[in-house]
Amino acid sequence: MLATKDTIGIGFIGAGDIAILHARAVKRVAGARLVGLWNRSQERATQRAAEFDCKSYPTPESLVADPAIDAVFVLTNLESHLEYTKLALKAGKAVLVEKPVGVSVAEIEEMRDLSVAKNLPVMPGHNYIYESSMMRTRELVEAGDLGKITSAYVMYNIHHPEEVAARYPGVVRQILTHHSYILLYLLGRPKKLCAMKATLHYEKITQEDIAMVQMEMQNGALAHFCASFAADDHAADPWTVMVKVIGTAGSTRYSYRDHVEIKPGLVHSQTYTAYQGSVMNEVKFFIEETLRKGVPPLSTLDDAITAQKMIEACEQSIAEGRVVTM
Ligand SMILES: NC(=O)c1ccc[n+]([C@@H]2O[C@H](COP(=O)([O-])OP(=O)(O)OC[C@H]3O[C@@H](n4cnc5c(N)ncnc54)[C@H](O)[C@@H]3O)[C@@H](O)[C@H]2O)c1
Repeated sequence: MLATKDTIGIGFIGAGDIAILHARAVKRVAGARLVGLWNRSQERATQRAAEFDCKSYPTPESLVADPAIDAVFVLTNLESHLEYTKLALKAGKAVLVEKPVGVSVAEIEEMRDLSVAKNLPVMPGHNYIYESSMMRTRELVEAGDLGKITSAYVMYNIHHPEEVAARYPGVVRQILTHHSYILLYLLGRPKKLCAMKATLHYEKITQEDIAMVQMEMQNGALAHFCASFAADDHAADPWTVMVKVIGTAGSTRYSYRDHVEIKPGLVHSQTYTAYQGSVMNEVKFFIEETLRKGVPPLSTLDDAITAQKMIEACEQSIAEGRVVTM
C-alpha cells in the first residue's frame, strides 16, 4: 500500500534535540510529511509542533491511532524505546527507533520478534552508515579490492558539556553503539575485545566521558574504537569523527571534517554537515527503500542485537579488566 501512496505520514514520539534533525530530514524527502508529534512535556510538544509546522497529540496512544500516520519515529530516551516501539507496532505502524535501540539484548530481540510477527519494519537509527563513502568502503571490502584487511579505526572526539551528557548514558553505550554497527557493516563482528574507560572532565556526573576498545576480527585483523565527550580534537586533520579501513591493497577514510560550516551545531562547536546529512540519508532510505519497496535497512535489528552484545562485552571487559571473547 505504501508503495504507491502519494504522501507517507510520519509521527514523532519524543521531540528533543534529535527530533530537530529528523524533522529537517522528513521535510527534505519528497513524498513524506511530518503529521504530528507527542512529547512527554506538553510545553516542549507545543513549541516543537509550532517549529515543525505539525500537530501535537495529547497522548502517544492518540498519535499511533491516527490513520494519517503510517510510520512512527521513536525519538525518546533509551529506556523508553521498547515501550513506544511496541505501542506503534501493535497499532500497525512501521517504526524507526533511535540508537541505542534497547537497554539490553532481550529488549531488542522482543522488538525484532514483534516486527516479524506484525510483518512491519523496525529500522534502527544507525545513521552513520547511510553515507556514500561508507557504502563504497563496504563494496571495496566485499569485492576484495582492499586486499587482506589489516586494520580498522573508528574515532570520535567531540566535546559535550556536562548538562548535555547528563541526559545520556556514558559514551560506552551512547557513542560506542555507533562504532559497533559501523564496524559490523564494514567488516563484520569481532572475535574478541578489550575495553577501558575514564571520567575526565565532568564535575558532577559519574558516567565515563572517554572509552577505547581493541578488537581482533574474524580474519585476524585488528580494530580500534575511541569515543570521547571529554575534548574536541583541534589539531591538523582532526579525528572529530574518522573511520579508516586499511588493507594490503588499499585503504579508505571517512571524516566529519570533509564538510564544516562555521556556525554552532545543536551541541557541537561547529556544524559538521555529515551529521545532519547522515540523518537525512537514513530517513530517505527508510521512506523510499524500506517503506515503499520493502528493502531491508542497511543495518537491521539483528545488527542492533550484535552491536548491543559488543557493548555488553565492552562493559564486561571494563568491569573484569580482561579480554572478552564474543
Ligand atoms: N543518531 C544519533 O546520532 C543521535 C544523536 C543524539 C541522540 N540520539 C538518540 O536519540 C534519542 C533522544 O536523544 P535526544 O538527544 O533527542 O535527547 P533529548 O533529551 O533532547 O530528548 C529526549 C526526549 O525524550 C523525552 N523523554 C525522556 N524520557 C521519557 C520517557 N520515559 N517517556 C517519554 N518521553 C521521554 C524527553 O521529554 C525529551 O523530549 C536517544 O535515544 C539518543 O541516544 C541519537
